[in-house]
Amino acid sequence: MNISASFLSGAAGEVSAVLAVVKDVTSLRRLHEQIVRSERLAAAGLLAAGVAHEVGNPLTCISSLAQFLLARAPDPAIREGLESIEVHVERISRIVQDLTRLTRPAPATLREASVGNLVDTAVNLARHNPAVRRMKMDSAVDPALPAVRVAPDHLVQVFLNLILNAADSGGNLTIRAARTGGAIRVIFDDTGCGMTAEEMRRLFDPFHSTKDNERHLGLGLFVSHEIVRQHGGDLLVASEPGVGSTVTVVLPMERLPSVSEELV
Ligand SMILES: Nc1ncnc2c1ncn2[C@@H]1O[C@H](COP(=O)(O)OP(=O)(O)O)[C@@H](O)[C@H]1O
Ligand SMILES: [Mg+2]
Repeated sequence: MNISASFLSGAAGEVSAVLAVVKDVTSLRRLHEQIVRSERLAAAGLLAAGVAHEVGNPLTCISSLAQFLLARAPDPAIREGLESIEVHVERISRIVQDLTRLTRPAPATLREASVGNLVDTAVNLARHNPAVRRMKMDSAVDPALPAVRVAPDHLVQVFLNLILNAADSGGNLTIRAARTGGAIRVIFDDTGCGMTAEEMRRLFDPFHSTKDNERHLGLGLFVSHEIVRQHGGDLLVASEPGVGSTVTVVLPMERLPSVSEELV
């Protein structure tokens, strides 16, 4: 619950009424927690995938060497030992595979959604963040823009990440949306610290962050880029140090035939 109260004063300055607003923010908070959790899961998934990749090659080597020796070892005790090595190698492979599967986010379903509604949801969620509350934020999204076919929660996560980054940049934020050709562009324009060419180059790298706070994983743009690309779209960034940054989410209105209906 969010409870706020204000006094309304009469003509002579006396208190004429008390206005109390009780807002149920449980569902907002739950969605916010879910988004934070999905970022952490993505981090765990990325680590697991990295480990699976690194561990996979030596495991394959051990397994083929064991088979090679098994085919040539006449001694039953040595054969038994080699068979045991194979069993344990198989076990490690399964553990690593399970780990990757466990941490992969659940498939999302695509639905028709209004960009304006998605932006509003992200803006409301972002307001739980103190840095966002301190920032001046304007959003002007034309409700008449055509609907897009997207995974709504994933898109909200992208917008939320971009709002949080703008708040961290120390500037103010304007959110606009426009239809250009066959795409809808959602534009996040901030007047914050901006980025150097070197920072721009590493922007989408997983675990890259210039914020030395343990709460910043450096995964926001990596995850957002992946999500937008899974929608057949793109994430464009322009920035100037000391002036600000513009991040544009490009969403195609016509779904590309190569884009799967099931997003993972
Ligand atoms: N709007 C922005 N203004 C300035 N720098 C930004 C902006 N968005 C992203 N960055 C830079 O890109 C880095 C990566 O962003 P992100 O992936 O969201 O990770 P995080 O926010 O956890 O640091 C940030 O640490 C910051 O240096
Ligand atoms: Mg971020």
